[in-house]
Amino acid sequence: MEEQRERLEGELLAAIAAAADLRALEEIRVRALGRRGEVTALAKAVGRLPPEERRAAGQAVNALKRTVEEAIARRRAELERIELERRLARERIDVTLPPRPRPEGRVHPVSQVTEEIVAILADMGFAVAEGPDVEDDYHNFTALNIPPEHPARQMQDTFFLEAEEEGAPLLLRTHTSPVQIRTMLAGRPPFRIIAPGRVYRRDYDMTHTPMFHQVEGLLIDRRTHMGHLKGCLIDFVRAFFERDDIPVRFRPSFFPFTEPSAEMDIGCRRGKGQLVVGAGDDWLEILGCGMVHPRVLEGVGLEPDVWQGFAFGLGIDRLAMLKYGIPDLRTFFEGDLRWLRHYGFVPLDIPTTYGGLSR
Ligand code: DAH
Repeated sequence: MEEQRERLEGELLAAIAAAADLRALEEIRVRALGRRGEVTALAKAVGRLPPEERRAAGQAVNALKRTVEEAIARRRAELERIELERRLARERIDVTLPPRPRPEGRVHPVSQVTEEIVAILADMGFAVAEGPDVEDDYHNFTALNIPPEHPARQMQDTFFLEAEEEGAPLLLRTHTSPVQIRTMLAGRPPFRIIAPGRVYRRDYDMTHTPMFHQVEGLLIDRRTHMGHLKGCLIDFVRAFFERDDIPVRFRPSFFPFTEPSAEMDIGCRRGKGQLVVGAGDDWLEILGCGMVHPRVLEGVGLEPDVWQGFAFGLGIDRLAMLKYGIPDLRTFFEGDLRWLRHYGFVPLDIPTTYGGLSR
């Protein structure tokens, strides 16, 4: 029996040392120490020895069992360490590498400036309203008191569609003013809305593109007067250009849908192909405005003796060009990513309520 034990010990220790991985080692453990293992069988055989031999043989078998257990535990620790090292080598991360560049988009100046304008006017209590790009003659012209012979109706200005409605061709809206009409027809006064959106005219040069953007403003209430219009628009341009001292003037003008009508100019300085807004001895027109014409009010069922108000219309793209020094309007719509990377805005620069950026 002693011989058998020694042979077994030699075999097992050699096998343990040679086990290539944890699975092979587990197989050896079962073969040696499992219920039907070789060491277990040897322990059982001790019971069948004559009593005087049992004690010594039992101790020897127990010692063998411990030796084998310890050898397995040591080999297991070793294999685990080798395994870990192999994994670390395989999955190594080089933290010294520069990060891969992540493509980051830019906010288009038109979107940026729209948000700035909306933020300022929303702060004054104006809500955003919308209307369709495809309009009919009534909302785009007639209801705004634009007579049939008005030049804006001519082919060279308006894009007319082939489809007709009520005998008149549909068209691409030439301004955002029809949203005034839709708002007043759909609700009850008082009204205080702004309508940003796309408009269309047959035009193409440095400062004109066939599609551009406007914001229409409309305020209707009891006893509204021109002082409200002036206060609102002066506050607006100063917030938008972020200058409290910007010189402002209102020049008499004409629009069919307002009476009286005015154009608002801001101070500027021109020279050397440059235009500086906010100071100097020159003037720059930035928007049209006026008191809503009584005929427009009557047309949507409002009594001009009770309800008055003002309206204004401004070009978003034009304001973007002025504020951010972008010289050619056509580049806005060419979709050149290099242009956008240069003139665009970082997405998370949220406009503040006073018009600037949070930067
Ligand atoms: N609709 C005008 C345009 O497209 C802009 C405008 C001028 C709108 C005066 C108004 C206004 O509401 O009162 O040129």
